[in-house]
Formats: sequence, C-alpha cells, structure tokens
Amino acid sequence: MKQSVDFQDFVDEVLAKTDIVDLISRYVTLKRVGNRFQALCPLHNDKKTPSFSVSPDKQLFHCFGCGAGGTAIHFIMQKENLDFMEAVKYLAEKSGIPIPDYRSSSERAKAAEIHNKKKRMYEMNAEAARFFYSNLTSPSGKDALDYLKRRGLSNATIKAFGLGYSPDSWSALIDFMKTKGYTEAELCEAGLAVKRDQNDTYFDKFRDRVMFPILDLRGNVIAFGGRIMKDKDNAAKYLNSPETLVFKKKENLFAMNLAKNSKAGQFLVMEGYMDVISLHQSGFDNAVASLGTAFTPQQAEILKRYADKAVLCYDADEAGQKAADRAGEILREANIKTRVMTITDGKDPDEYINTKGKEMFGLLIDNAESFIEYKIGKIEKQYNLEDTVEKLEFIEQIAKILANIKNGVEREIYIKNIARKTDISHESITAQVENLIRKSRRGAEIKAERDEKRAFEERTGGRKDLDSMRLYNAEKLMLNLLCEKEIFKGVSEKLQPEEFTEGLHRRLAEVIYAKQQSGEKLQPMSVISEFAEADAGRVSEIILDDKNVADKKMAANQAYKIIKAQSLKAEAMSGEDDAEKLQAIMDKLKKDKT
Ligand code: UTP
Ligand code: MN
Repeated sequence: MKQSVDFQDFVDEVLAKTDIVDLISRYVTLKRVGNRFQALCPLHNDKKTPSFSVSPDKQLFHCFGCGAGGTAIHFIMQKENLDFMEAVKYLAEKSGIPIPDYRSSSERAKAAEIHNKKKRMYEMNAEAARFFYSNLTSPSGKDALDYLKRRGLSNATIKAFGLGYSPDSWSALIDFMKTKGYTEAELCEAGLAVKRDQNDTYFDKFRDRVMFPILDLRGNVIAFGGRIMKDKDNAAKYLNSPETLVFKKKENLFAMNLAKNSKAGQFLVMEGYMDVISLHQSGFDNAVASLGTAFTPQQAEILKRYADKAVLCYDADEAGQKAADRAGEILREANIKTRVMTITDGKDPDEYINTKGKEMFGLLIDNAESFIEYKIGKIEKQYNLEDTVEKLEFIEQIAKILANIKNGVEREIYIKNIARKTDISHESITAQVENLIRKSRRGAEIKAERDEKRAFEERTGGRKDLDSMRLYNAEKLMLNLLCEKEIFKGVSEKLQPEEFTEGLHRRLAEVIYAKQQSGEKLQPMSVISEFAEADAGRVSEIILDDKNVADKKMAANQAYKIIKAQSLKAEAMSGEDDAEKLQAIMDKLKKDKT
C-alpha cells in the first residue's frame, strides 16, 4: 500500500532516532566482528551458529538461517508480533516521538461515529438496568423480588449486582426508553428489543424475567442475562443479550468488574450467574463466570492481568467436568496456575454454599487439587491398578501428561506420587517420562531443521543445478554491488534491470536503478521500504551482505558476464537468430573487458 509522503517522513524520523544495535541488544547479546555485529538469531531457534548479523552503518539486520531481515521496524514486527504500523508506533513511543493521526477525514469520521454509537449504547443499557432495578421494588416486581430472596440474596447483594425485573409485557421497556429519547431500532441494535418478521414493529426481548446486568471492566453495562422464575421444560432458563457493538461474549467475564479488585490473589472461575453472586455475598469477591460459553483464551488473558492463579469451580455434572477440562487447558496455556475444585453430591457452588456454608466452601478451595492431579485422578478411575497390564497402561497415559510439565521439580513431585500409588519404581517412571520429553524435543528440532531448509530453498528459488545456482548468486552479488555509486556508473550502461532473471531480483534492480539515477545517496532502508513485508528479508539479505570482496570492480565484472551471457542466450533463443549468431555474441562477450 502506498502511504502518503508525510507518513514516510514519520517512518524516517522513527528510524533515524532508533539505533538498531541498541534495540536488538535488548533481546540478544551482540558480538562485534569487524564492521558488524553477530549473534544467535533471536527470531528463530538458533542454537549452533551465530547466523544473525547486524550492520550499524546500514542500520539493517539479517539472519542467514531463517531469512529474516530488514530495518529496526522489521525486527520489531517479527519479535513483538506486530504489523508495520504497530511496530512504527512502538518504536516512536520508545523514542518519545509523537504519533501523528494519519487517518483520512472519512476514516476519522467513521471512528467518531462508532465511538458515539457505543457511548449511546452504554447509556441505553444503563438506563435499561435502572428501569429493571426500579421494577424489582415496585408492586409488579414482587414475584421477582421474592424469587431472589428465596434464593438467599440480600438487598445489599441485589443492589451491588444491580439485579432487576423485566415486566411481563411486550413493550414496557420500549415504551420507557422512548420517553428517554431512544428509538426502537436503536434498542434492537443494543439487543434489548426484537423486530417482528412480518412488519416493522418491535417487542421487548426480555419479558417476565429476573435480570442480571453484565458489566465490562470499566463498569459500563454492556448486556443482560434474564432468568425465568419458574423452571419449565419448554423455555430457556436464561436468555442472554446477543453480541452487539459493545458486547463480545468471548471477551468478558461476569463480575470481573468487581473481582478485579479482590485481594485474594487468585480467581474462582465458575459457570453461572447465581454461583458468582452467591459467592460474592459470602465474601468470595474473586468469583467470576464465563457467561454460559466455553471459557476462552481471551478471558484467560483478562484474568492474567490481575492474578496468575485460578481455581475452576465447575458443576459436578458431565457437561461441567468437560468444560473444566477445556478451561484448565486454556488457563495452563496462558501460564495461569490452575487448580480444580470438585463438589460432590451433584451440587453447583451456589447450592453448596447455601447448604454447607462458606467455611466448608473455603475448605474446598484450599484443598482444590492442581489441574494435573485432577487429570491424573480422572485417568486413574479408568484403570484397575491391581491388574499389572492395566497398571502399565495407566503409567503410559500418565507419562504423557507429565512429559508436558515444563518445571522439573513439579514433574518430580508427581512422579513420586505415582510411584507410591502403583508401587512401580520412581526411576522407571522417570525414565519413561524423560524418554517422551526427549522424543518431543527431537521432534521440535527436526521441525526447526526442516523449516530452515525450506527457507533456504525459497531464498535460492529452489534452484538445484549448478548453472542456475551460479546465475542466481551472480544476480545477488550484482545487486549488492550496484548499491555503490561507482559500480553502478560502470554497469548501468551495459546492463538493464530486465536482464535479471529472478522476479524479485528484477524488481530490486528497478528500484536501485531508479534511486541511483535520481542522484541522491542510496539509503538501504529506503530501498527496503519499497518492498512488501514478505520480501523485506530477502531484499535486506542481498543489500546487507558485505561479501568481503577485495576488488569490487572485478567481482562486478565477473557477475556481469554471467548475467549478460544468460540474457543474450535468452534473447537469441526467442528471436529468429540462429546458433551461429549466438556463438558470435558469446565470443564477443568473452573479449568484452569491463
Ligand atoms: P446452569 O444451568 O448451571 O445455571 O447454567 P445456574 O447458574 O446454576 O442457574 P440457576 O442456579 O439454576 O439459576 C450455568 C450458566 O449457563 C448459562 C448461564 O450463564 C448460567 O448461569 N445458561 C444456562 C444460559 O445462558 N442459558 C441457559 O438456558 C442455561
Ligand atoms: Mn445453580
């Protein structure tokens, strides 16, 4: 994409104020070798040779192992996994350069429009929440209030969670919201009203339900859950707001706006609204719920901002246990230390705390087993450990789980437990686990090698025969040398960009020719910035490679002959010319002394 000129100025300023050596040495130890720095590549699994090279003069880096290369921006893009714009901003912030607003006026207007729409939707939801809450304390809400009281909630809890009641009417909310200046279409967009199929009329989405507002981290009401008061077979127990401009189910946790302030140091992750509310009422202010969906990686990231520990308190039924399995894996992925609490007697946390009390619930939390123990326990139930064959199968299954634990001490503890349980020696279980670890490491290494080989083949255009490899390398050498004004002067009279055979080489030649002919000093990064991100690595490899040729003129002459011979050959083959004519041309080329 072509950016405006002032954007290029901004990028240039960011690059000018960023020292690539300084930047990269924050990630990896650089060692000076001649006029460049070397390191093990911080962008791929580089264990053996220092294939990573940084040029302070050119302010470029390149890795001969993985093919990555380019400016400081390209480095940050890969290292921090950012796109081009994000990487530029990242570096600008580091250097204290103010970031200009490059959006077009239409983009800006669109962003402002979305911002206003969201703001209005927050206000609309807050207004609706106030309406539902006021109904609860009015005569029409008597059944709903009784229901909540029956379920053990105090007035303070009802108020703290802003619970409410949606009247048994098709338009109570719509009518009220109209008096506040909102349209039916807006209510529909906010998920509070539903449009009838037949005509352009609307009705309230939530009717005759106890209402649970869902708040985001900043305390905005973004959605609702509504529960029927008499369980029926034919009606959904809970009805939830659809996804809207302000409500993304996967990115929110019920009660996180409260739980984020907890001093507990860990979160209690549960399934239901009522579980969370009951727990908060009993003083467990760290309870959250995943809003009736499977727990998501985004939710794990939110938790992680506030604590690195979690206890899963899912229902004891099969669905609950399955959900706990998946949630546990996701939390472990996010490096959150996870334990699993199992409530027996088929109860959920809300029922448990209401019948057994908060002390008992506290004990369950304290005694929650680690996610690994929990998984081991589940496998244990599938095998009869009295039977030798089954016992060995059991160990095999367990070893797979233990091989995934990165911490050696932790692994050790579990192995000891299993040894005790099965009466099989600690050493033999350890050997089995370590064998699996070795195998998976070898697998990872083989994959890294394969990737490296593929990268190499891509860089060499997959060429295998000697002649084409020679031509390919000659083109690379020539492009590198063409960056020097003196060489360019000599070569550009006799060789044109079209004569480069490889696609990227040809494009790079065009760029170099244009820049050199403009008369300005050739800046390597201005060349690279003409190329798409996918090509920046190869381009910088070509430009950065110092080749260490003592006599650049002679090297250019040799490369020239190889490239010219090929281009003359191609010309002759495509034209009417016969073999004799081709021979004559080749002879002339041999004599050609440049
Ligand atoms: P549960 O069926 O376990 O409900 O669903 P619960 O929380 O124990 O509810 P009570 O105690 O009967 O009031 C767990 C969660 O799954 C979502 C809700 O978020 C609920 O809290 N759910 C459940 C729905 O979204 N819709 C449903 O119909 C049922
Ligand atoms: Mn329940």
